[in-house]
Amino acid sequence: MTAKTIFILNGPNLNLLGAREPEIYGRDTLADIEAACAAAAKASGFEIDFRQSNTEGTLVDWVQEADTKAAGLIINPGAYTHTSIALLDALTAATIAKIELHLSNIHAREEFRKHSVTASAADGVIMGFGAAGYILALDALKSLLEKRSA
Ligand code: DQA
Repeated sequence: MTAKTIFILNGPNLNLLGAREPEIYGRDTLADIEAACAAAAKASGFEIDFRQSNTEGTLVDWVQEADTKAAGLIINPGAYTHTSIALLDALTAATIAKIELHLSNIHAREEFRKHSVTASAADGVIMGFGAAGYILALDALKSLLEKRSA
């Protein structure tokens, strides 16, 4: 049986993880996080397709692609969380299992970060656990998929 694929999409500036405001986002690089996700996914019988873009339209394209190719989607939309109706619409249209993820607890930060435009399209949101949140999200997605196929 082929492993189910999970898309893990990362938005703007997440390519800078490790160097970018480490007191907020931690010292793990995006490559570290990808490696940890690949290992955790493999142990759960999944494959991951892990991507990052600084461009809103590319993220929209990838959400649409995920809906045709993947069993589930984890997305950290970065700053587009707070602004992107286009991403909200793409996520709303996608019928696969979806988790929104943030390294930081956006509710404990500046006012403008406290609202997520995109979160209403997700099955659930994980935030505030740093890089470990990606592994928590994979776990949550696994149980969502089990529920869906029960
Ligand atoms: C973030 C939170 C956003 O407010 C910010 O713009 C990011 C990262 C997080 O993972 O905590 O780029 O999504």
